[in-house]
Amino acid sequence: MANRIPPTSDPGFGIYVHWPFCLSKCPYCDFNSHVRAEPVDEKRFIAAFKAELAHRAGLTKGRKVRSVFFGGGTPSLMKAESVAAILDAIDGFWAVEPDVEVTLEANPSSVEAGRFRDYRTAGVNRVSIGVQALNDVDLKQLGRLHTAAEARAAVDVAAKTFARYSFDLIYGRQQQSVAAWRSELQTALTWAGEHLSLYQLTVEPDTIFERLNLAGKLVLPNADQSRAFWDATQEIMNAAGLPAYEISNHARAGAESRHNLIYWRYGEYVGVGPGAHGRIMVPKGRRAQATERHPEMWLTVVETDGHALIEDEMLSHEEQGDEFLLMGLRLAEGIEPARFEAVAGRSLDSARISSLIAEGMVEMTPQGRLRVSPEGFPLLDAVVADLAA
Ligand SMILES: C[S@@+](CC[C@H](N)C(=O)[O-])C[C@H]1O[C@@H](n2cnc3c(N)ncnc32)[C@H](O)[C@@H]1O
Ligand code: SF4
Repeated sequence: MANRIPPTSDPGFGIYVHWPFCLSKCPYCDFNSHVRAEPVDEKRFIAAFKAELAHRAGLTKGRKVRSVFFGGGTPSLMKAESVAAILDAIDGFWAVEPDVEVTLEANPSSVEAGRFRDYRTAGVNRVSIGVQALNDVDLKQLGRLHTAAEARAAVDVAAKTFARYSFDLIYGRQQQSVAAWRSELQTALTWAGEHLSLYQLTVEPDTIFERLNLAGKLVLPNADQSRAFWDATQEIMNAAGLPAYEISNHARAGAESRHNLIYWRYGEYVGVGPGAHGRIMVPKGRRAQATERHPEMWLTVVETDGHALIEDEMLSHEEQGDEFLLMGLRLAEGIEPARFEAVAGRSLDSARISSLIAEGMVEMTPQGRLRVSPEGFPLLDAVVADLAA
C-alpha cells in the first residue's frame, strides 16, 4: 500500500485560480461566487488571469509549481480552451514539477461532465465534484441544479476520464438523521475513488440559510447530534480505508490533495482571480496577499494596473504562528513544534500542551509531532485557540 504523502521540510508551491461565476447561488454558500444574466466575456477574463499570473511570477521567481487548483465559483463553466490557455501561461512563467497536480472543481451537470475529456486534454488531471447529497429532495433544499442521477453520471465520467477524482458531500443537513447519513455515505463509497471531502453543513453569515435559521425555519442537528454525525463519519471512513487526513478530507494513503496539503502545511501559493488569496515568502518574511473580490471590478483593475492585489502585507511572527497552528492542526499528521518556533519566533507553551494532553485533546507522536487526537478533532477550534493563546 502507498504511504501517506510524508511531511516534508518543503511544503511546496501552488497556484490557485478563482473562477467566480455560478449558474445560481446556493442558499448555504458564502464563497465569492456570482450569477450573471448576460454571458461572461471569457476571453477578456482569461487575458486578465494571464496578466495576474505574469505579475505573481515576477514575485516568485525560481519556484517550482507542485499544483494548480481551479476553484470557484464554478470553474467547470469555463471553456476547456480557457483552462488550456491558463495552464500554458503557467508553464511559460514557472518551472513545473513533472507530476504536477492540476485539479478543477466541477458541478455535476451533464453539460459539465461532457467537458471532462477536453479538460483532460487541456492538462487537468484531477476533478473535485460538488455532489453534496444523493437524493433529489435534499439536493433541491440545498438549491442545487443537478439531480442525484446526474451526479452519479458525472462521477462515472470522472472515474473513466481521470486517474484521480474526488467528490464533496454535505452532511448534517435539514431533517437528516444519522442513520440516513450512514446509508448515504455507504452508497457514496461505492461511487468513490480514493478521495472524498465530507463537510458538515455550516450556517454562514449573509446567506439565505442564515436568514432561514434565524427565522427558525432550518432544522439542523444540535451539538450532541453533530457529534453523532461526526463519529459515524469517522467510523465508516476508517473502515473503508479512507481515514481523515484533514478534518473534512478523507483519502487512501498517497491520494491526498497535494494542493490543499500546501495550504495546511503552510507552504507558498499565489492566487489569481477575484477574491483569491496568496502567501509568499520574501527576504523579510511571509506576505499575505488578496485580490479585489468583485469580478468586473477585478477585471478593470487588472486591465489598468496589471494586477488587482488590494492586500499585500507582511505578516508578523505572531500572525504567522496563529496561521500555522490553524492550518497544521487540521491535519491528522499534526505539526512539527520546531517549525512553529521558526515561524512564530516563540515556542509553544509546554504547560498548555501538557494540560491538553492530560485532557486527551492532543498527543505527541513518537516522531515528536504535535497533533490533535481523534477525541479532540470535534473540538478543533477550541484546541487551536488554546494553543495559540
Ligand atoms: C467552492 S465550493 C464548490 C464548488 C462547486 N461550485 C460546487 O458547488 O460544487 C466547495 C465545497 O464547499 C462545501 N460547502 C460550501 N458551503 C458550505 C457550507 N455552508 N457548509 C458545508 N459545506 C459547504 C461544498 O461541499 C462545496 O462543494
Ligand atoms: S456552492 Fe458552488 S455552485 Fe453553489 S453558489 Fe457556491 S460556489 Fe456556486
